[in-house]
Amino acid sequence: MRKIEELKKKRNAVILAHNYQRPEIQDIADFVGDSLALAMKARETDADVIVFCGVDFMAESTKIINPDKVVLFPNMEAKCPMAAMVDAQSLLKMKEEYDYDIVSYINTSAEVKAVSDICCTSANAVKIVTNMPDGVIFTPDENLGMYVKRFVGDKDVVLWPGFCPTHMGITAEDIIELKKKHPEAIILAHPECTPEIIDMADKVASTEGMVRYAMESEAGEFIVATERELCYRMKKEMPDKEFYPVETAICPTMKKITLKSVVKALETMEPEIILDKEIMERARKPLENMLKAGR
Ligand code: 13P
Ligand code: SF4
Repeated sequence: MRKIEELKKKRNAVILAHNYQRPEIQDIADFVGDSLALAMKARETDADVIVFCGVDFMAESTKIINPDKVVLFPNMEAKCPMAAMVDAQSLLKMKEEYDYDIVSYINTSAEVKAVSDICCTSANAVKIVTNMPDGVIFTPDENLGMYVKRFVGDKDVVLWPGFCPTHMGITAEDIIELKKKHPEAIILAHPECTPEIIDMADKVASTEGMVRYAMESEAGEFIVATERELCYRMKKEMPDKEFYPVETAICPTMKKITLKSVVKALETMEPEIILDKEIMERARKPLENMLKAGR
């Protein structure tokens, strides 16, 4: 879209988009990736303005990492319901009870990050918890936490009861039906899925991890147990392979950003992510700790 290109030049802006964004948003983005890749990209860009197409916690993380840049978030209503399932005060109460370090999934508010020791994404959660001393509070995704626990021996990992409604909605029947239709297909699953789905999967990975796995695999067909738009990127980058989404797995929040809202944001330079300075300072360390750990 020429108008967006002109506005990007005028503002010296880049557009970052998550893998679950609408196809037309993925098409105009300078970079499309998972939460970890987007956080890494946000740190290295020399643009003055970042237009973030994703959900609230991702746009906030971008701002925390880049306090001097303007971070535009085209629709402030794009709030991840899982991130809203934990608040700083209740988390601190849990910390008082256990006296454990807090590992927060990046799907949390800036306030929750500010009271955390380290953040993680689905791409590095196992690695990060493995490297923590014994005794960890893991918040907010219980399914990801249960997945992590499979790899960390008898380390005590206390789980917060949060979940992603989109991934919780993916059922064993969905996967069985797809497998019946496509018996040769490899099953890929996101760790936000239930343990039942995880047990059925050939490979469990973050959205970026699934893209990489499919690229490196000799297989030609994949059942993709995550938000269905990831299949748009997969098919675009691997036109010779087939990807079968769970058609009902839609994250409504991710769809709140439209081309129209991106154009408007670049024209008006609003809405902009503004966070409390002190919260930002405190939330930066756990995010930087996560970025140091890498993928
Ligand atoms: P990824 O980091 O794997 O892209 O996942 C983010 C997310 O919100 C999954 O629901
Ligand atoms: Fe949040 Fe789930 Fe949507 Fe990811 S897919 S942004 S965890 S609601």
